[in-house]
Amino acid sequence: MSNVVYINNPLLTHKISSIRGKEVPCATFRQYVKQIAVMETYEAMKDFKTVDKEIETPIQKTTKPFIEEDKIVIVPILRAGIGMQEGVSAVLPGAKVHHIGMRRDEVTHLASAYYCNLPASLENDIVLLVDPMLATGGSALDAIKLLKEHGAKDIRFLSIIAAPEGVKAVSEAYPDVKIYIGALDEKLNENCYIIPGLGDAGDRIFGTL
Ligand code: PRP
Ligand code: URA
Repeated sequence: MSNVVYINNPLLTHKISSIRGKEVPCATFRQYVKQIAVMETYEAMKDFKTVDKEIETPIQKTTKPFIEEDKIVIVPILRAGIGMQEGVSAVLPGAKVHHIGMRRDEVTHLASAYYCNLPASLENDIVLLVDPMLATGGSALDAIKLLKEHGAKDIRFLSIIAAPEGVKAVSEAYPDVKIYIGALDEKLNENCYIIPGLGDAGDRIFGTL
């Protein structure tokens, strides 16, 4: 699937492997999620356009390429997306942050939005949608729908661990959305958790296990 990028980098893979263990402390988990998000941001920005700006070094005037950070909008899906957003914001401090809150029903596993704080128009922005887990794809599908309803044309979805079921659902529904994946796992279990996965990402980031 051409809109799906499986990021292949030993350091990234190592970091993702390092947060799976159930004994990993919350603080370590959070720190690594942030670092993973930074690495995925580099990958997602490979084709970003730059604009030339004149600057003056201590030696002389020169023209150099810059990214227009103010045209980038980071959208974490609450709660777990917050863990990744901290990393993306660290390398893109000029990017705006807007939030979408999604909740999965524990019985039906269906996602529903409980919060949406998006600007009136995202038409001219590059949206970095972030959520560590892509399981059934329900949360990502609903979030992308909301982004499109707000005019978003360039959406890049960054996830850490994905199940094939979720990748299929999102890439087929939205072939124009580029999906970046740190690790592709085996499948979903009967509770729609990713196998082997890392458990509930939100609980592990916020220590609410
Ligand atoms: C997790 C995760 C995703 C969603 C993925 O959130 O952060 O948003 O599940 O599952 P899906 O692809 O099947 O929709 P959760 O609903 O557990 O909420 P939380 O982040 O508040 O814990
Ligand atoms: N959400 C999570 O946090 N983990 C999973 O494995 C699936 C959905």
